[in-house]
Amino acid sequence: MFYHAKWDFSIALEQAIKEKIVLITGASSGIGLETVLGLAKMRASLILVVRDKEKGEVTKEKIVRATRNKSIELIIADLLPQREVRRVAAEFQASHPRLDVLINNAGASFTNYAETEDGIERTMAINYFTPFLLTNLLLDTLKGSAPSRVINVTSSEHKDGQLNLNNVGRDPRMGRVGADAYRRSKLALILFTYDLARRLQGTGVTANCLHPGAVRTKIWYNSGAFTPLFRFFSIFMLSAQKGAETSIYLASSPEVEGVSGKYFVKKTPKRSSEASYNEDMAKKLWDESLRITGLAPEAS
Ligand SMILES: NC(=O)c1ccc[n+]([C@@H]2O[C@H](COP(=O)([O-])OP(=O)(O)OC[C@H]3O[C@@H](n4cnc5c(N)ncnc54)[C@H](OP(=O)(O)O)[C@@H]3O)[C@@H](O)[C@H]2O)c1
Repeated sequence: MFYHAKWDFSIALEQAIKEKIVLITGASSGIGLETVLGLAKMRASLILVVRDKEKGEVTKEKIVRATRNKSIELIIADLLPQREVRRVAAEFQASHPRLDVLINNAGASFTNYAETEDGIERTMAINYFTPFLLTNLLLDTLKGSAPSRVINVTSSEHKDGQLNLNNVGRDPRMGRVGADAYRRSKLALILFTYDLARRLQGTGVTANCLHPGAVRTKIWYNSGAFTPLFRFFSIFMLSAQKGAETSIYLASSPEVEGVSGKYFVKKTPKRSSEASYNEDMAKKLWDESLRITGLAPEAS
């Protein structure tokens, strides 16, 4: 009896995501790659945003071979410049009238301070402004495809994050990069997720975020002086396959249909930091992000 119930649930999961259109960033390595593999096994139609064409082709071939799911497409883009984020949204919309799941997974950590061509510190750019801009550009498509889902991959590191809303893109008073920049970018991503969920109430589009755990991926290797330490501790970390479980769950499970504005760890809603629930800060961040990304207020 129990056996049957378990079997039926796995079939229900596959049915829920089968042929749904999923757009995912950072899909060619680590957690993103494993998320794609998991969803491809469930027969989702996947559009992978990757920055390296060759790596993307290899990834696509690997997924098709492993899952026999041929519904895998690539969009090649470096997501640091905003013009590239705009091109990704336009390219996607030109060939797909609907979008069921958007997974903002791409992320990075940098040791040296540098700004993008838009004048934004790189960690904030890729971890926060890219998801903000991409999601807003695809919002009408998501609304037209409701019920649909936005999933933002954040980090428990947000708990020590501090945002300077007077200069959120550059933050000269806290110009240090590395862990500090990573933490504030992930806090910004959670503030954005909760605010988005509030703004999307009643539309059928949900917005949630997640911490994947401490996962053995190449993101840790860009940690400057601490790299050898991370290499040693990586033996205690989760595999990328394990780290992808919550992303796959949020993208596919009927259990989270209609659930919005939550922070998930190990497929369970958890409380994020106190600062992440500050609605006033979230609103100011949203307005400032509209200005920095050049989005008209009515586009949000
Ligand atoms: N690993 C952890 O312990 C951990 C913990 C908490 C949160 N996270 C989050 O999980 C997400 C996935 O990270 P990961 O651990 O799987 O690391 P990863 O293997 O380094 O994956 C990061 C992905 O983002 C892509 N990316 C980075 N910069 C990009 C850019 N400018 N344009 C386009 N794509 C870009 C990378 O592309 P390339 O393959 O071309 O480099 C890669 O596919 C990130 O948001 C990270 O912050 C990870």
